[in-house]
Amino acid sequence: MRGIAVASVCCVAFGLAGCGDDGDPCLGTGTLPTESLEEFSGKCLEAIGLPVPAFNCDEGTLVPTTNLTGVGTPDETCDAPNVLNHECDPGSKFQVLAQTEEAIVVAHCRKRGLPDGFYEDIAVIQYNQVNGATCFYQALGNLPAEVSAPSDPDGTFPWQTPEVTAGQNCVSCHDNGPLVRSPYLAQLRDEPVNRLPGTNPDDNVWGPRFGWNKSQPYTFVGNDFQSWKVEFLSVQGVSCMACHRMAVSSSNGEYNSAGTSLAFGPESTAATQAAKNPHSEVSPIWMKPDQVFYDEDVEIEALTVEACAQAVVSGGPLPAGCSVTPYGAGDTCDPPLGAQAVLAPPDSPEPLDPVTPVGLNP
Ligand code: HEC
Ligand code: HEC
Repeated sequence: MRGIAVASVCCVAFGLAGCGDDGDPCLGTGTLPTESLEEFSGKCLEAIGLPVPAFNCDEGTLVPTTNLTGVGTPDETCDAPNVLNHECDPGSKFQVLAQTEEAIVVAHCRKRGLPDGFYEDIAVIQYNQVNGATCFYQALGNLPAEVSAPSDPDGTFPWQTPEVTAGQNCVSCHDNGPLVRSPYLAQLRDEPVNRLPGTNPDDNVWGPRFGWNKSQPYTFVGNDFQSWKVEFLSVQGVSCMACHRMAVSSSNGEYNSAGTSLAFGPESTAATQAAKNPHSEVSPIWMKPDQVFYDEDVEIEALTVEACAQAVVSGGPLPAGCSVTPYGAGDTCDPPLGAQAVLAPPDSPEPLDPVTPVGLNP
């Protein structure tokens, strides 16, 4: 019932087409008209202020596959495999396509064994760190390295439509903020241009490393993305949030079962990581920074966060010391931070005061 009340507020406030009758796109109970790639990229440019240009994947920086051994998945291992597919994926290239103090456009081209000049997974994220506006673009298949701009009406590159991209549910993993900083792409932290935000300790515009993903805004642009929401957890006695959020997400009104708290946190602190060489000085464990080997106490912190997240996504009750706060939603949603009342997990106890994390150990 609360959903309907909020839905009507949303319709009155914004007069959204498709919002009405019995549904609200912001809650995943209604839809807005789906958009063409051109319409979507136009909206993104307006919100973010920096366009996605045409580009060539071959011009990106090669992501290292240091100490590569074995052949093919699952035998192949290296010091910093990717986290999406759990493989080393030689030949993949990352690049920063455009960048100002306010906004950035990054592209990752995953090779996945295709021949020279072709990639199997090309994805772009366009982000404004002042207003939080974020757009996602994706193409999959036998893709040429030469990519036309999504805004180009004569472009021949097979970009997915925004509706199909939204169906890939980017937010289910990209929930801590727009960018997932795995050790795989963090390898490029000292690159002058093609480096991932939040990985370079001296970058005070697109960083710093230990403050990034802690408070930067995050909102979703485009009719097909309005139901996406992100929330961060507070968990008593856990140090992880000293440096970044630990988040969960929902799409179409339902919590997702992957992401930072539910998957990456446990993976980042486990004794082994899929496709990764054993933890060592040259292949340190992902979390925490400056830790080299497995540490049971740190893994327990990640598992405590995971347990809090599991309680949230399954509708509570929340363990003592665990609370959740919405921080991002569709940019047309009211309130913009994502209908707090509706997002509070059902039957949860009074939210606890946010916990000041202890034990910062940079
Ligand atoms: C199942 C989890 C998952 C989903 C779903 C997902 N990603 Fe990612 N993505 C990752 C991970 C993990 C990384 C970090 C690189 C790595 O280790 O693979 C990443 C990295 C990226 C990067 C490089 C910049 C960065 O954030 O590190 C881009 C661009 C990207 N993803 C775009 C997308 C788009 C667009 C979608 C939706 C169409 C999407 N991703 C959906 C897990 C996911
Ligand atoms: C001292 C600061 C610090 C602490 C404490 C810390 N992290 Fe991180 N974390 C980072 C940095 C920095 C990155 C980006 C990768 C890099 O530069 O090494 C990161 C990235 C991550 C990511 C990828 C998502 C993202 O935000 O980009 C996960 C998951 C993660 N950390 C889990 C944990 C867990 C679980 C804990 C607690 C056990 C923890 N971290 C504690 C600094 C920290």
